[in-house]
Amino acid sequence: MNATMKEKILVTGGAGFIGTHVVQKLLETKDNVHIVILDNFSVGKADSFMPVCTDTKRLDIVKGDVRDEKILDEVLSGITTVYHLAAVVGVDRVISMPQETWDVEVNGTKMLIEKCIQHKVKRFFLASSSECYGEYSPGSLPMKESDYIMPNTNYGKAKYECEKVCEQYNRGGNISCVAARYFNVYGKLQSFNGYVIPNMVVQALNNEPIKIYGHGDQLRDFMYIDDTVDATIKLTESELTGVYNIGSGKCMSIKSIAETIIKLADSDSMIVHVPIRRPTDIESKLSDNAKIRESINWELRHDINAGLKETINSYRRYLNECNCNMRTSG
Ligand SMILES: NC(=O)c1ccc[n+]([C@@H]2O[C@H](COP(=O)([O-])OP(=O)(O)OC[C@H]3O[C@@H](n4cnc5c(N)ncnc54)[C@H](O)[C@@H]3O)[C@@H](O)[C@H]2O)c1
Repeated sequence: MNATMKEKILVTGGAGFIGTHVVQKLLETKDNVHIVILDNFSVGKADSFMPVCTDTKRLDIVKGDVRDEKILDEVLSGITTVYHLAAVVGVDRVISMPQETWDVEVNGTKMLIEKCIQHKVKRFFLASSSECYGEYSPGSLPMKESDYIMPNTNYGKAKYECEKVCEQYNRGGNISCVAARYFNVYGKLQSFNGYVIPNMVVQALNNEPIKIYGHGDQLRDFMYIDDTVDATIKLTESELTGVYNIGSGKCMSIKSIAETIIKLADSDSMIVHVPIRRPTDIESKLSDNAKIRESINWELRHDINAGLKETINSYRRYLNECNCNMRTSG
């Protein structure tokens, strides 16, 4: 590519939480990049870019579905790299739309990769999930890419199927695919689709009771958005293929997270326990992130306190700026 030619990158689901930050980071760090976002706006919103993207001349936002062949032909023209983040996400949405979840994930990913090959795309990143691992006893943690795994949710099964699809196309040799198993990503601009941290932060800032589903001893591996984006871009820009955990490698109980948020937000909120939403909820999660740390130049920069402080401040600013009462449904 000569110096005046722009590299064209497609980000599916680019109006969503992680996608917005990936797009912002790519625009900030690369002068010669042009980004195309494909999103059906079922969750993401075009105006979520307002607070973060200062340079939108190098950005095209296309409303459409990843399963729409005609739109794929349009948006893939000239693209060299695809970040595939579009998916039905969030506990409530996944439970209420099992068929759509499977169809968007599995059929959407297959069609997208086939179209990528037709359009000579070189590199494909798949956003997969720690839900692929299924149930682990706390004694057998952390979760490692080489473990024998058995997903136990529709969403986890669909993500695992997508990873297998990527592997199959890698063997074909016409495209290079890499998949990342995200654990619990959190940070500024995350919506409330059943996500633990945004719900708790808003409840804390409103001094309302903080809801915990079940006993609260469930362990989770929370990773701040900026670290997630850094790992995502570095992994995609490498030549690695296969599956990589993108997690902090540290875990915390849901109860401790609530207590920490109350403390950091200087809130009067009380903790209340409510029944769990789905019996297959994974009890505990913790990533082994040695594979990605040892393969690319990546390290965690935000511990949970630093990440939560940034998150609380961003929601506080947002509430002050829009002078509104933000309410959670969860
Ligand atoms: N956030 C996390 O903690 C987490 C954890 C594990 C995996 N992931 C994966 O990372 C990716 C991004 O997650 P997120 O948290 O940003 O979710 P998100 O819901 O904020 O973003 C997903 C985006 O995809 C769009 N979308 C949904 N269906 C679509 C379709 N058929 N065609 C086009 N666009 C569509 C939505 O409008 C949304 O903007 C997803 O693939 C998700 O499964 C996220």
